[in-house]
Amino acid sequence: SPYNSQRRHASKHRFFVVELSQALFDFVIRLLPTQEEMAVKEDVRKLLERLIRTIEPDSRLLSFGSTANGFSLRNSDMDLCCLIDSAERLSASDMVTMLGDLLERETKFHVKPLPHARIPIVKLSLDPSPGLPHGIACDIGFENRLALENTRLLMCYAMIDPTRVRTLVLFLKVWSKRRNINSPYKGTLSSYGYVLLVIYFLIHVKNPPVLPNLQQMPPLRPISQEDTHIGGHNTWSVLLAFIAREASLTPRCRFFDDIELLRQRWQSSNTDSVADLLIDFFRYYSRDFTYNTGVASIRGGLLKKDSKGWQNELAASRYNDSRERNRFCIEDPFEIDFNVARCVTKEGLYQIRGEFMRASRILAMRPRALVTLAQLCEE
Ligand code: CTP
Ligand code: MG
Repeated sequence: SPYNSQRRHASKHRFFVVELSQALFDFVIRLLPTQEEMAVKEDVRKLLERLIRTIEPDSRLLSFGSTANGFSLRNSDMDLCCLIDSAERLSASDMVTMLGDLLERETKFHVKPLPHARIPIVKLSLDPSPGLPHGIACDIGFENRLALENTRLLMCYAMIDPTRVRTLVLFLKVWSKRRNINSPYKGTLSSYGYVLLVIYFLIHVKNPPVLPNLQQMPPLRPISQEDTHIGGHNTWSVLLAFIAREASLTPRCRFFDDIELLRQRWQSSNTDSVADLLIDFFRYYSRDFTYNTGVASIRGGLLKKDSKGWQNELAASRYNDSRERNRFCIEDPFEIDFNVARCVTKEGLYQIRGEFMRASRILAMRPRALVTLAQLCEE
């Protein structure tokens, strides 16, 4: 009967989803960096910091990107940012040139200073050795405080629901690399862009949401005299106001970052498994996201290209290339005039959407979980 066949169908689906979730965890765990790798990277950071301090004694060298946000894969490169606390500091491009010379003289790294790049950096690499079978690649930039802040935001999201968020993000990073759609230089999207797509989906598309919006938590406001004087009215909102720290930098970087407290007080009512979420993610981005008019914003939800002046047809004239820059729009969480997907070209977007559709198709066929993962990530 139709009723029985529906039930069989549903139970087959449940079995597939349970098996696929387990396979996703196992797949991702094998790709995490080892303790040794993390220790070596920390040693490298310390060594580089010591050397930089011979040029600028008041400097600190901080990790950002995947090594610091909880979305690191084995052998991923290291993003480092140098902050200089003194008032009279050298310009970023002078620092790049001087540091390049110093590292060339004093270390075994291959060094490539790029003092004239839009964001000046020194590129470093170490060849593979027995203790470091894959070598190390590392970029050092200067004063990129926004990158440090957005790394902290991503890390907070990873900590709210580590199992589901990290498994999804790590899987999608591997998938996008294996499918060749993770190269901003070749017209596709950076890992950072994919992470924002996942977080946007978990906050604004899933209903009920899997993640809260840390940039729009209720009272994020300074503590008023009044609040502190109401004895015994230690309500949730007063408490929140209390711990809401002022932004370390500018107001636009403010977000709710007391994850311990959040985890005590907030729990998502969404109980989807990782596999459910992955299936929905691919379905949403292959079918439902409005690429022509929409902007994915983790801060503000689905925005319109029009309202941000990012429309691809109207603004494009022969004097600017905004048509090319705004095919795919993902708003940066703090630098809201910046389209994180601006490198994505027409062909790149076609390729990315094609991959979302391919993944959806494979998942709809529901072969055994291991076969599914192997097919999804086929190189
Ligand atoms: N970043 C940014 N704006 C961009 C791209 C990157 O601010 N358009 C910063 C973010 O802080 C991001 C970091 O650079 O976390 C690293 O970006 P990316 O290399 O894309 O992400 P990773 O997580 O380091 O991924 P991978 O392991 O692929 O290097
Ligand atoms: Mg990186």
